[in-house]
Amino acid sequence: MSLKIISVLFLLVRIVASEDTSFIYNGFHSSPVHLDGIAEFTPNGLLRLTNDTTQQKGHAFYPNPIPFKNTFNRSVSSFSTTFVFAIRSEYPNLSGHGIVFVVAPTKGLPNSVPSQYLGLFNRTNNGNYNNHVFGVEFDTIQSNEFDDTNDNHVGININNLRSVKSAPAGYFNDGGFKNLSLSSGDPMQVWVEYDGVNKQINVTLAPIIVDKPEKPLLSFTKDLSPILNNNMYVGFSSSTGSVLTSHYVLGWSFKINGQAQQLAISELPKLPRFSEKKECKFLTIGLPLISLNLVFVITLSVAYFVKRKKKFAELLEDWEEEYGPRRFRYKDIYFATKGFKEKELLGSGGFGRVYKGVMPISKTKIAVKRVSHGSRQRVRQFVAEIVSIGRLRHRNLVPFLGYCRRQGELLLVYDLMPNGSLDKYLYNQPRVTLNWNQRFRIIKGVASGLHYLHEEWEQVVVHRDIKASNVLLDAELNGRLGDFGLARLYDHGSNPQTTHVVGTLGYLAPEHARTGKATTSSDVFAFGAFLLEVVCGRRPIEHIGESESVILVDSVYDWWKRGEILIAKDPNLGSDYRSEEVKLVLKLGLLCSQSEPLVRPSMREVVQYLEMDVPLPDLSSSGLFFGYQEPFQKFPLSYASSIDRPFSYTSSIADSILSGGR
Ligand SMILES: *[C@@H]1O[C@H](CO)[C@@H](O)[C@H](O)[C@H]1NC(C)=O
Ligand SMILES: *[C@@H]1O[C@H](CO)[C@@H](O)[C@H](O)[C@H]1NC(C)=O
Ligand SMILES: *[C@@H]1O[C@H](CO)[C@@H](O)[C@H](O)[C@H]1NC(C)=O
Ligand SMILES: *[C@@H]1O[C@H](CO)[C@@H](O)[C@H](O)[C@H]1NC(C)=O
Ligand SMILES: *[C@@H]1O[C@H](CO)[C@@H](O)[C@H](O)[C@H]1NC(C)=O
Ligand SMILES: *[C@@H]1O[C@H](CO)[C@@H](O)[C@H](O)[C@H]1NC(C)=O
Repeated sequence: MSLKIISVLFLLVRIVASEDTSFIYNGFHSSPVHLDGIAEFTPNGLLRLTNDTTQQKGHAFYPNPIPFKNTFNRSVSSFSTTFVFAIRSEYPNLSGHGIVFVVAPTKGLPNSVPSQYLGLFNRTNNGNYNNHVFGVEFDTIQSNEFDDTNDNHVGININNLRSVKSAPAGYFNDGGFKNLSLSSGDPMQVWVEYDGVNKQINVTLAPIIVDKPEKPLLSFTKDLSPILNNNMYVGFSSSTGSVLTSHYVLGWSFKINGQAQQLAISELPKLPRFSEKKECKFLTIGLPLISLNLVFVITLSVAYFVKRKKKFAELLEDWEEEYGPRRFRYKDIYFATKGFKEKELLGSGGFGRVYKGVMPISKTKIAVKRVSHGSRQRVRQFVAEIVSIGRLRHRNLVPFLGYCRRQGELLLVYDLMPNGSLDKYLYNQPRVTLNWNQRFRIIKGVASGLHYLHEEWEQVVVHRDIKASNVLLDAELNGRLGDFGLARLYDHGSNPQTTHVVGTLGYLAPEHARTGKATTSSDVFAFGAFLLEVVCGRRPIEHIGESESVILVDSVYDWWKRGEILIAKDPNLGSDYRSEEVKLVLKLGLLCSQSEPLVRPSMREVVQYLEMDVPLPDLSSSGLFFGYQEPFQKFPLSYASSIDRPFSYTSSIADSILSGGR
């Protein structure tokens, strides 16, 4: 053989060996990507690894094998990849299971199982040296069997779901570490880089709007040469557990021996809008919890299942399908509240009991209201309203997460507000009182929340039960309006229907008590009572004997007439307050408490007064009109006494809505 031919052959080999595979997908429009499991492309070019189906897996692989090893020294070459992903689940902060960037010897991973195995391995082959699998997992569930750090972590996996290195999801920026929630639904970009000389793996994560952080989230030194074969496939694996979750990849770029080409972020396909992300039904009952060990599940007896099914039986009718995302499983709520244990009780009254709880998987803290209901017809209307109300989003409203229905019982699930209700800080010898700045901030927050309900949302929402015990305090002591279960919706411009009178005595506008019509101005009246309550640290009506009671607005009005309105303020405020602000709020309270609805300010005006954008009108010239006492006297005494029990009065409201009171 001539030397020439040998050298040509040699050259050919060199060309093949140094061929630097690279590809880029800015969206997956008619892409030759190999899919299996439930993976699919959406019409607008998203790669959806899992759709809304539980306990399933999905894979997507670049169709051609990639030569990962250098032909001469058989060591794994440097490689780099970047991709954008998003995890969308039916519940906020409750997801399952995760997504993995994977380098594997085969397209797809046969015999792998979903849930905590992420579609990578199964019970027998997990950890096996012969897997030849390298992965980077973005895991939203804490699986203790694999020593997961938490339920929101990134890990490097080598042949094993027990990560060799992992960290809570986040990124380094401006010298600090910023947390990221993988299941937030927001797109995030990932960079995985391997340095073939220094044998170093770096994994970096960032929100899509942030440039690649300099410091990687994970850095791990390991020679991948013994792990990977010469030819490998690259792709993604994803799996769902018990929570309906979609895992999306928006774009992906990869390169051997060099930097992966940058993605054109602006060209990536758009994720579905949050409200549309779900079209499916979920009717499954009795699926085992993810964390339950498989063996345990198998050994469960049939009898156990029957009993369990009865215990967790819930009502689910066709009309509820559209509320999928808002519908919780009774079982989850049951476990969250430890079976509605007395210890988890937050409050109770005629209306129902309120329990605190922690969702089993996401660890989201919740408050669950148990309302009993009679008529099916009513409950349907009620659920429609509450789900609609659940779409309200404002920083001064308690987030409504969802509901669940059982025979004769409705469960409403809210975000837990760690600091409880405001009334506990105001009267009955509070253990902690709030200073003026805190109270003023709460007042402004509640005003802003109520303004949103009245004017800023697509429909007018009349709250109907504004009072201190319905204002809850979050971790930062922001005031948030709660108890939307009692609000009713009116389309803009339409006439409010006449209903049974709802609300709480002392906050009830006279025209509301008289006509039964709740309006935005009856909410303003209640807000006025609330303002006085917060500044004075007293209830709107206090009983000081068998038949005698002190009406707060009267005494504030009297002090104002004498030119000494500041005397009305809560003595617990001490001396650390701005008298201008205190006076403003007290006078505004009087203005809102006028018996004539037309002269009360709107919530928009209230917000402007509180922000001091607009000066308060002069009270003496506006001729305050109070004729509120008369309608109160029409109530039987038992109604009046119910104000001592925060939830009891509301029972009549729930009853009126739920049992045909319209
Ligand atoms: C999810 O994917 C599976 C398999 O492709 C399909 O049968 C099912 O209808 C899909 N479900 C939804 C809600 O798209
Ligand atoms: C293997 O060979 C390639 C090309 O000759 C070289 O770039 C690389 O550094 C080598 N790797 C090791 C570990 O020597
Ligand atoms: C989800 O969790 C993140 C971080 O813990 C938090 O900032 C966010 O408010 C949560 N979202 C909801 C809807 O609970
Ligand atoms: C697990 O996967 C391995 C290799 O893919 C396969 O040989 C084995 O049968 C699987 N085991 C089970 C229990 O599915
Ligand atoms: C980030 O999350 C961790 C727990 O995952 C928590 O301990 C830490 O306080 C969070 N940091 C910030 C800045 O929110
Ligand atoms: C990994 O990160 C370290 C620290 O920032 C850096 O020095 C190194 O060059 C990075 N390696 C790769 C392969 O990107």
